[in-house]
Amino acid sequence: MTLLKKKQKKQKSDATAHHTAAAPAALSGAEALAEAELQRKAKDHLWMHFARQSGMAAGEGVPIIVRGEGHHIYDSHGRKYIDGLSGLFVVQVGHGRERLAEAARKQAEELAFFPLWSYAHPKAIELADRLADYAPGDLNRVFFTTGGGEAVESAWKLAKQYWKLVGKPMKHKVISRAVAYHGTPQGALAITGIPGMKEMFEPLTPGGFRVPNTNYYRAEEMGFHGSLEEFGQWAANRIEEMILFEGPDTVAAVFLEPVQNSGGCFPPPPGYFQRVREICDQYDVLLVSDEVICAYGRLGEMFACTAFDYVPDIITSAKGLTSGYSPLGAMIVREKLYEPFTHGQTAFYHGYTFAGHPVSAAVALENLDIMEEEGILEHVRENSPKFRAALERLKDLPIVGDVRGEGYFFGIELVKNKETKETFSEDEAERLLRGFLSKALFEAGLYCRADDRGDPVIQLAPPLTIGPAEFDEIEGILRSVLTEASNRL
Ligand SMILES: Cc1ncc(COP(=O)(O)O)c(C=O)c1O
Repeated sequence: MTLLKKKQKKQKSDATAHHTAAAPAALSGAEALAEAELQRKAKDHLWMHFARQSGMAAGEGVPIIVRGEGHHIYDSHGRKYIDGLSGLFVVQVGHGRERLAEAARKQAEELAFFPLWSYAHPKAIELADRLADYAPGDLNRVFFTTGGGEAVESAWKLAKQYWKLVGKPMKHKVISRAVAYHGTPQGALAITGIPGMKEMFEPLTPGGFRVPNTNYYRAEEMGFHGSLEEFGQWAANRIEEMILFEGPDTVAAVFLEPVQNSGGCFPPPPGYFQRVREICDQYDVLLVSDEVICAYGRLGEMFACTAFDYVPDIITSAKGLTSGYSPLGAMIVREKLYEPFTHGQTAFYHGYTFAGHPVSAAVALENLDIMEEEGILEHVRENSPKFRAALERLKDLPIVGDVRGEGYFFGIELVKNKETKETFSEDEAERLLRGFLSKALFEAGLYCRADDRGDPVIQLAPPLTIGPAEFDEIEGILRSVLTEASNRL
C-alpha cells in the first residue's frame, strides 16, 4: 500500500475512531491513546475467527488481552480475569511460564526451522518417542501437524489410504456425532456435526455421517428411556446401525471425542467406548479418539482414552501439548496402520510446512516435563471432584439445568424451565448468551465460554494448576451473574 493510500485510510478510520472503548481512569493518557490506536487498527484490519465483525464495524471495540500470569489474564485496561477456558482449552500449565519461553528461545537460536519432509530434527524425534510412550497399546507412530483440525484431516486421509493399501478401497466414509466439532478444513468440517457451521461451505467433502451423541440429559428427546448404562449401549449401537445402513465395506472410521465438547461436555456413559470398540472391530472400522481438547491432562491423563479404558486406532491431539506457547498438533497411530507404509515406494503424501516445528516440539517436551514434575495429572484427578462439587452447588439456581463433564472440563446447561428442561428460543438464547451472559461474566472477572452450538451452555476448562480456592471464586462469579440472568428471564 502506498504511503498516501495508507494516510487516506488512516484519516478515514480516524473519523470513525470515536467508537473506541473508553479508557478507565487507571490508564495514563499515553496508555489510553495506545489502546485507542490498537482498537482502531483492529477495527480497520483484524478479522477475528468465528466472530461477528458487525460489533467491530459498529464501533463496540474488542477486548484486547495483553498479558497472562498463572491462571489470570489481563486486558489492555489493566483489568484482571480468571482464564476459565485456558485460552481455548490450551494453556494447561498456566500463563507466564519462563521455562517454556526459554525452551522456545533456546531452540530458535539452535535450529529455528526445519521441516519433517524426508528430514528430521532431534526435538521432533524426542517428542514422537515420548508421545508413543504415553499412548496406550501399540499407538507408536506419531505424525505431527500444526493444530487439531489438521490432525483430524490427517486421520481421515490416513484412514482412506490405509484401507486402499490393504485391499478395501471402498472404505472411505466416516461417522461422527451430532453437534460435535472436529475442526474447519473441509474434510474435518465434513466430520463436524454442526449444520450451522457447514451450510455456507457446502458441498463439503462427501462421506460424513452423524449418529446421536451421549447427552443423557436430553436422552428422552432422542427417544431413549432408561438407565445411563443402557443409554450408553443404545448410543453406541446407533454407530453399528449407521455402519450397516451405509455398508461396512464403505465405512473407514468413527471419530469420537472422549468427552464431547460442543453441546456442553458430554461424558461417555459407562461401557459406551467398550461397545464402540467392539463394533469397530466387528466391522473393520477404525476408531479415532479426537483428543484435541481432552488429551494432555485435561481429564487427568496424558491421553483421555486411558481415563475411559479403551484403545483407539488413532488419537488426534493438539492444544495442550504445548500449553499454547507454540502451535503444534499430533496424530498418533497404531502399528497396523503404519505397517503398509513401510514397504517399497508407498508414502503418505501428506504434510504441513510447520508441522512438528522445532520450536513447538522443544516447547512441548518442556511442557510435558512440567506436567510430570508438578504432578499435574494427579492434581487434576484429585481436584476434579471438588471442581464438580463447586459447580453443582449452582444447581439451586432456577436457570441451571445440568452440570456435566470430567477432569477440568465442565459444561453448565442453562434452561428456561428446570422441571420440563425447556430450553430457550433462538431469540432468547441470542439475548441471554450473546446479549448478556458472555459480557457479564467477562465484566465480573471470568473469561469462559457461553456457547449455543447445541443447547445453551457455559463451558469451563481452566488451567490445570488451579484448586479449591479458585473453584469457589469461579462459583461465586457464576452465581452472581446467573442469578442476574435468571431475574432477567
Ligand atoms: C475435538 C476437536 N477437534 C478438532 C479441533 C480443531 O482444532 P484446531 O482449532 O486446532 O484446528 C477442535 C478445536 O477446538 C476440537 O475441539
